[in-house]
Amino acid sequence: MSEIGAFEFQGKRYEFPVEIGTENEISIDIKKLRGTTGGVITMDPGFKNTGSCKSEITFLDGEKGILRHRGYAIEDLTKKASFLEVAYLIIFGELPTKEQFAKFEADIKKNTLVNEEMKNILDGFPRSAHPMGVLSSLTSALTAFHPEYTDVQSEEDMYNAITKILGEFPVLAAWAHSKNDGKPMNYADNSLGYIENMLMMMYKVPTEKYKTNPVVLKAMEELLILHQDHEQNCSTSTVRLVGSSHASLFASISAGVSALWGPLHGGANQAVIEMLEEIIADGGDVDKFINKAKDKNDPFRLMGFGHRVYKNFDPRALIIKGSADAVLSNLGVTDPTLKVAKHLEEVALSDPYFAERKLFPNVDFYSGIIYRALGIPVEMFTVMFAIGRLPGWIAQWKEMRMNNEPIGRPRQLYMGEIKRDFKNVSER
Ligand code: SDX
Repeated sequence: MSEIGAFEFQGKRYEFPVEIGTENEISIDIKKLRGTTGGVITMDPGFKNTGSCKSEITFLDGEKGILRHRGYAIEDLTKKASFLEVAYLIIFGELPTKEQFAKFEADIKKNTLVNEEMKNILDGFPRSAHPMGVLSSLTSALTAFHPEYTDVQSEEDMYNAITKILGEFPVLAAWAHSKNDGKPMNYADNSLGYIENMLMMMYKVPTEKYKTNPVVLKAMEELLILHQDHEQNCSTSTVRLVGSSHASLFASISAGVSALWGPLHGGANQAVIEMLEEIIADGGDVDKFINKAKDKNDPFRLMGFGHRVYKNFDPRALIIKGSADAVLSNLGVTDPTLKVAKHLEEVALSDPYFAERKLFPNVDFYSGIIYRALGIPVEMFTVMFAIGRLPGWIAQWKEMRMNNEPIGRPRQLYMGEIKRDFKNVSER
């Protein structure tokens, strides 16, 4: 007999089907709850206990620190695959054959020339504009330049929209950086690999020959693979929700960029470095900041710590921490924030406040230190996260559309005024 979930309400028993996932996670299907109970709904701010969809893309085990994409462990993928190979896996479900990869890469390269008129939009921004705001706007503008991708129906159209945004997004990100940096904008060079191209567009100046640093390239490839997908996080859920109205892939990704920008989400990698620098500037008193983070009356949080799912460790943080020393020493970089970060982690993890709440370093805690060693400016850290997360957003949007998911529209519990009569201004 298949399992059921039941609850009693006002003397009546209601039963709901239970579904077991391939990793033995359990869900109670409450699709019929409101209809069978005469209007009862569940309440779950932040959706901490609520599944929004079934997905085959990424599996996380927060207790065991497991992250797999389509069944492959993140530890293997970062070591053995390229960024685009992992992107293909996440989007299409299988690691590509040589031929499939060659076609995928070639189709992306067909789309790396961005319409020159995009620069008119860039010109409208002040140089001080945060690159994430610029990137979100430029991504949304792709729909204006490619109206044919507004509402894709066929798999072929979807594939073309996917290779279009994979081709253009890194260019737009690099242009956002060039604008912020006051430097000329570079065009893609299709003789380079995907990540190498992105680095070249960010760093090449017309007055010098550009040469890729292999240490930087390897570190960046590993970092961005680690960021590719993370099941139903805030920005991915945003992409799914916006896409559920059949808004275009580009408009949905633009919304995802905006959601990622927040300091509680992808913006944390910038906030971590700013926090570490504040601690150094304040004299390096780690205990003072740990106490601030524990003080309920102090809005200060330990940025880069804590996670909605990981309650033991974030496997990505372990990989990044492991690489940080090697990358910095290979580049001959010493960064005082790394020492402070390690000390902060050590003190926090021995403090009952963090242990009780299962707060550990997350993906953002060490990533900024590597980005900085690679010469990425702090305002671009979250843009790097967005470039890394793009394949995941695409894959989740595609899965949502291919599964014909209904438009997302949560209910609410109304707590406002009950019906009252209008008062004329003379009576107020
Ligand atoms: C990402 O979801 C994903 O997968 C996201 C991500 C991805 O790949 O997409 O992994 C990327 O966004 C990583 C998270 C980056 N954000 C930060 O580092 C910001 C700092 N972290 C927190 O704001 C917080 O931990 C969250 C947002 C990450 C998670 O918040 P939750 O799950 O809603 O937990 P909560 O806010 O309810 O906190 C539970 C308790 C509270 O204390 P009590 O009220 O129980 O006493 O833990 C405390 C919180 O005050 N707490 C912290 C803390 N994080 C949680 N206290 C101090 N410092 C912190 N960082």
